[in-house]
Amino acid sequence: MQPRFKGRHFITLEEWSNHEIDILLEVSKDLKYKFLHNEPTPYLLHKTAFLMFFEQSTRTRNSMEAGLAHLGGHATFLDTSMMQISHGESAKDTAIILSSYGHGIACRNCFWEVGNKYLREMAKYSSVPIMNLQDDLYHPMQALADLMTIQEVFPSTKRVKISIIWAYAKSHKKPISVPLSQILLFPRYQMDVTLAYPEGYDLPEWAIKKAHENAKAHGGTFRITHNMEEAYKDADIVIPKNWGSWVNNQSTQVIDDLLESYKSWKCTEEMIKLASPHVKYMHALPADRGNEVEDSVIDGPHSIVYQEAENRLHTAKAVMAMTMGDK
Ligand code: CP
Repeated sequence: MQPRFKGRHFITLEEWSNHEIDILLEVSKDLKYKFLHNEPTPYLLHKTAFLMFFEQSTRTRNSMEAGLAHLGGHATFLDTSMMQISHGESAKDTAIILSSYGHGIACRNCFWEVGNKYLREMAKYSSVPIMNLQDDLYHPMQALADLMTIQEVFPSTKRVKISIIWAYAKSHKKPISVPLSQILLFPRYQMDVTLAYPEGYDLPEWAIKKAHENAKAHGGTFRITHNMEEAYKDADIVIPKNWGSWVNNQSTQVIDDLLESYKSWKCTEEMIKLASPHVKYMHALPADRGNEVEDSVIDGPHSIVYQEAENRLHTAKAVMAMTMGDK
């Protein structure tokens, strides 16, 4: 049976089957081809979406805004500090009203133990698709673009050794949503996934359990190590990125003794040399250059970060075209 996409919420990729994700990726590829060849893609003519941001963004906001314009529609950017939300208006009322004005609502809300619940509450009341632009637990738009990028570089993802590695950064206390989404998705595509982090930076136990289950169900593997070098060794792809110690410490303080004790968790040329000779370096961006990664790595021959960031546009367009479209 052909899956139905119209009207579907896009809150986590856990709610989308591999078959449905494969279709989203096919559409993304087609949209990428057409964008690069200047072919029109008027799939959402005169349709509108509201983009609600509780936090800053470069890639997510602009891939959605530009993407909807490429599809013939219009996106309205909403800084939530300028909405009645800041005076206490509920997610329910916001969702009902905005969904009566347009065809999709997308939202970024990364507040710990709030973000995902907020999106779910909107989804309960919205008559149009709710799209997750990153919450405290999930970043499905990023994970989808990551998978597209990996498939462009490795035509078969089976037995690709991919390491998601915690890295030191002090720019802000980052959500866990990127590594969490990656450990859930990549084992479903038969990759051999290693999650590496220093003590104290755990992801939630339920997510670890689910990553193991996904690996078992789909033929991937999943393991955890607290040894950074071990994670780099022979890896085909490394994703060294910071995330906050939210599970163990809910304080929003950015720099603390625990963080400072792991300054050595940096992606250096020396670490890259431990990996496979053809290793690819990925990062969702923004990167904390000099802390998470040396410039010579992120700007070097192994880096595919700009391809990864560009694919945010094509995958965002696919999600909007499929969920907000008429099919
Ligand atoms: N990767 C990502 O979500 O980037 P932005 O925070 O700039 O949207």
